[in-house]
Amino acid sequence: MTRRSLSLVSEHDHFPDAGAGAALSPVKPILAFDRVGFSYEGRAIMRDVSFTVRSGEIVSLLGPSGCGKTTILNLVAGFLQATEGVALVDDREIAGPGPDRGVVFQTAALFDWMTVADNISFSLRCAGRRKRECREVAEDMARLVGLSASIDAYPYQLSGGMRQRVGLARVLAAKPKVMLMDEPFSALDVQTREVLQEEVLRIRARIGCTILFVTHSIDEAVFLGDRIFLLEDLKNGSFDDMPVDLPSPRDSGENRLHASFIRMRETIYRRMRH
Ligand SMILES: Nc1ncnc2c1ncn2[C@@H]1O[C@H](COP(=O)(O)OP(=O)(O)OP(=O)(O)O)[C@@H](O)[C@H]1O
Ligand SMILES: [Mg+2]
Repeated sequence: MTRRSLSLVSEHDHFPDAGAGAALSPVKPILAFDRVGFSYEGRAIMRDVSFTVRSGEIVSLLGPSGCGKTTILNLVAGFLQATEGVALVDDREIAGPGPDRGVVFQTAALFDWMTVADNISFSLRCAGRRKRECREVAEDMARLVGLSASIDAYPYQLSGGMRQRVGLARVLAAKPKVMLMDEPFSALDVQTREVLQEEVLRIRARIGCTILFVTHSIDEAVFLGDRIFLLEDLKNGSFDDMPVDLPSPRDSGENRLHASFIRMRETIYRRMRH
């Protein structure tokens, strides 16, 4: 564990860089915060926050309510601008939202009057892509998230877990390099939540996207993360950066019973309690 002191689809058609080895690039940082600070109307929320995230990595952000998890996602998404330091995606300073970053929120804000297919392909239709291409991408993405059978359904006909799958597919359809997920499964029952966690790991293995995943659940953070940022008070810029060491395949539900999983869960629990 590192204590950071403010340092730095077919699926293959849709994600041309994807492939068997696309899961994790060993070197390339796709995301970098260099001494980033952010204040709301003069009130500092974070100062001197630095980290890097490699392409294909999943980083879980865990920490108490109000510590700044959503603020970090908003800075990466470009919804907020750093008031100090530099935030970079793919070596470019983040100046606003862009198609290289996609956000999955706590509840999927779907368009109720559109089918699943039209919800998924919304960004492509906005970009003026042809109807047939939109349908093909929607079908590919629906397959990726296990929703093929419901592609022509309307959101009101779906369960909460299925709605979140549509939200995920809609973001994936825009081919983001970085997915920002803000407690996306927190409103779901435990079984659905675990299935979707495994789905996220499978999608990452297939398309190699990078994910920042905010959660309040220690289990979820450990199961999904290649690393966990354990945040507390970002105003002094330091946080624990904990690597997760679990066996492959990472999407195996058996990992929840593995000794490393249980050990890590206990370590984090104790740190958060104290
Ligand atoms: N629009 C805003 N205006 C002023 N302060 C804000 C605003 N949004 C958030 N804050 C403050 O910024 C701090 C960090 O908020 P943030 O939403 O990032 O926390 P969080 O870690 O995501 O919390 P939670 O786990 O409850 O979602 C909090 O103190 C919050 O009160
Ligand atoms: Mg939040």
